[in-house]
Amino acid sequence: MERECRFGIEGMSVHVPRHCIDLGTLAAARGIDPAKYYEGLGGRRMAVVSPDEDPVTMAAEAARRLVARHDVDRSEIGMVVVGSETGVDAAKPIASYVHGLIGLSPQCRTFDTQHACYGATAALQLAAGWCIQGNGSRRKAIVIATDIARYEVGSAGEPTQGAGAIAMLVSCEPRVVAFDRHDEAVFTQDVMDFWRPHYRSTAMVDGRHSLDCYLRALEHTWDAYLGSSGLRFEDFRHLLFHVPFPKMAHKAFHRLHELEAARRGVAMPPAEAMFDTLTRPSLWANVEVGNIYSGSLYLALAGLLEQGDAAIEGARLGLFSYGSGCCAEFYSVLVGPDATAWRGRIGVAEALAGRVEVDYPTYVEMRTRSEGMAGDGSFREPVHPGNGRVRFLGVRDHRRVYQAHISPGGDQLRSCTSRACAGAGSG
Ligand code: HMG
Repeated sequence: MERECRFGIEGMSVHVPRHCIDLGTLAAARGIDPAKYYEGLGGRRMAVVSPDEDPVTMAAEAARRLVARHDVDRSEIGMVVVGSETGVDAAKPIASYVHGLIGLSPQCRTFDTQHACYGATAALQLAAGWCIQGNGSRRKAIVIATDIARYEVGSAGEPTQGAGAIAMLVSCEPRVVAFDRHDEAVFTQDVMDFWRPHYRSTAMVDGRHSLDCYLRALEHTWDAYLGSSGLRFEDFRHLLFHVPFPKMAHKAFHRLHELEAARRGVAMPPAEAMFDTLTRPSLWANVEVGNIYSGSLYLALAGLLEQGDAAIEGARLGLFSYGSGCCAEFYSVLVGPDATAWRGRIGVAEALAGRVEVDYPTYVEMRTRSEGMAGDGSFREPVHPGNGRVRFLGVRDHRRVYQAHISPGGDQLRSCTSRACAGAGSG
């Protein structure tokens, strides 16, 4: 079925933690050839969270920047949906904290969506549907992907960690990208490729199986999307994928290339050259940040839009979203009309430029303190300064405590403890 192409993403903003570690430093600590991480997995660095950063602070920072840089009228935001698989509470959503911290109107729905790395795509679809239902009433929603990817120290997954948040303004004025008029293709299968039991702070994964599940879901959604839309391989200017580690996007592209070659029955241009044009330009930020779970696909989108071909306006981008467990979706978007106007405002390069690289002992100490801050219910002042204005101070009386600085201009954040936020929100 075709639908009118009149809704999508009006603005985007990215936040990454202030600290990172070079994968070569991690490899040295593990006694592993760094080429395995740099070339085998395709990463260069991964984000490391400080004890005063968590999925709430990252989400609030991304949303604050979005509101400030896109001149968003806070009273117009009628929905905040956070896609995350690293929620901080079993009941209270991250969206409530963000709503309080950035001072939105009480006439606003707030909730989280969860399905591993697919959560933000589910949130985007929900928000877009809600905007359409407004029937011209100019509904606007903020969708945020925020996650900390954390595996056991010394595990095969460890070099694929990362953290970050992407905030997206969804509306019927899709200046960044508009959803295509073709229905998305979805695929679900009950698999145990990656999961995190409630009692663990690190994910469990069946690594090789997860790669197979990802590629199977890609094949299904790609075939279904081409079948229902009538689009062809050459109709996509770029193909973007969920990026658990950059080499996975490479594997995904090669799989589509193989499928296309088989479909055509004639030789295709070499896969590597096509990858360099169609997918590689989207990966530079993921190479620096690592897996940010729900936001990984949208970090690739932000990276492409920020540093890709300047004449990208009107181009069709194919997006593959994958969440372990699993649910996947292939859909396409069309780049909006004022590409150059919003290009500098997404803030990916800016966020990366301010980072501090840490050594291995600091990485271990920071992750230990970070897990401890959230885990034991006690209150402690943070040791490391956060990179943003919102800081997670700890847990007091079983309530998470956040501190935010308030600037005199429109770029405002509220101070917020769970207790204070219970009565706040009137903006
Ligand atoms: P591993 O044990 O490091 O695997 O685990 P490996 O030994 O096969 O090595 C990886 C690659 O490095 C291989 O390349 C090696 O050849 C190469 P490939 O054959 O795959 O092309 N290599 C070298 N290259 C250069 N120089 C060397 C060298 N040595 C080896 N000296 C694995 C890798 C990805 C499984 C692991 O990191 C892991 O478990 N990661 C987490 C799971 C994951 O990311 N899965 C991806 C699909 S599932 C997904 O995307 C969802 C997810 O984001 C979660 C969610 O949905 O919420 C994870």
